[in-house]
Amino acid sequence: MVIERLVEPTAARDDPEEEKIEISLRPVTFDEYIGQEHLKNNLKLAISAVKKRADGSTLDHVLLYGPPGLGKTTMAGVIAHELGASLRVTSGPAIERAGDLASILTNLKDGDVLFIDEIHRLRRAVEEILYSAMEDYKLDIVIGKGPAARSVRLDLPHFTVIGATTRTGSLAGPLRDRFGIIHRLEYYKEPEIEQIIERTAGILKTEIKPEATELLAKRSRLTPRIANRLFKRVRDFADVNGDGIIDKVTAEKSLDLMEIDYLGLDPADRNMLKLMYDNYGDRPVGLATIAALTGDETTTIEDFYEPYLMQVGLLMRTPKGRVVTEKGKKHLQNTKNKV
Ligand SMILES: Nc1ncnc2c1ncn2[C@@H]1O[C@H](COP(=O)(O)OP(=O)(O)O)[C@@H](O)[C@H]1O
Ligand SMILES: [Mg+2]
Repeated sequence: MVIERLVEPTAARDDPEEEKIEISLRPVTFDEYIGQEHLKNNLKLAISAVKKRADGSTLDHVLLYGPPGLGKTTMAGVIAHELGASLRVTSGPAIERAGDLASILTNLKDGDVLFIDEIHRLRRAVEEILYSAMEDYKLDIVIGKGPAARSVRLDLPHFTVIGATTRTGSLAGPLRDRFGIIHRLEYYKEPEIEQIIERTAGILKTEIKPEATELLAKRSRLTPRIANRLFKRVRDFADVNGDGIIDKVTAEKSLDLMEIDYLGLDPADRNMLKLMYDNYGDRPVGLATIAALTGDETTTIEDFYEPYLMQVGLLMRTPKGRVVTEKGKKHLQNTKNKV
């Protein structure tokens, strides 16, 4: 059984309603994109340099990495918009054969932006085509089979790849090296999440009181996608149980109902910490063991549970394994009977 986790920062691809709202909330310009100032400043500079040169040169390939829900896809759209370029969107797993990539590449135009989501999941054969395409805008393809096969080199338009990945570790070195701009997206600061919630409330024409915004921001795992998702749930709750205005009491009640605690942890997070602590105390636990304890995949633990639990200091990574910190133990105590 798959249990839907509200705080899971991945996009709910099977929920068309959520997807529609997510698209409507997506910032389009640098000004609308809240936070990530360091990244924005670097990109603004690079983009204005490209525009100033006006000699047909393109923006360096950009690699964005970091936990899901922090705005990588959104940023790819912003970059294309600010460049005045068209955006073509694909993903590592979607490009099955080298030929699929070849057809995407040959259909691009000069200056286009090609966004490759989950770029770490590209197949090896596809990745190799991408190397020379990114490096010198050439496409090496083999035509025919057997002794009659010959290799041809095609010129490609000058395009920019924006790659997104949750894990740079699993990106092949040669691929990584072809990106001129590599940037990690950071967790947002609480006031930035508050701004994002206010922006969302504005777009969805919902009134939210400042104390409620603050409360929601605290429980959003410093992640815009989760902030928006919780906002939507709280708004539904306010519509059904009140006058549609989100105040502190409404927000608190609905978040408690979802069992999301004051640090944004849901029952699955607390369960993982508890299993680790009950079974291993202060001793480090290996990833595979944690996965066996919770019944999750190791990648789920690495991509979804861990980054935020480490960010807020409840979990620590040591060479020998993961350890529940003092703060983690306290949090378990504090949330024992209530969220
Ligand atoms: N900086 C931001 N400012 C405002 N909203 C944002 C920002 N970053 C992300 N969002 C919101 O969060 C949602 C998820 O962002 P997305 O770019 O899909 O994340 P990622 O690709 O990193 O998983 C977007 O639909 C957008 O509404
Ligand atoms: Mg994305």
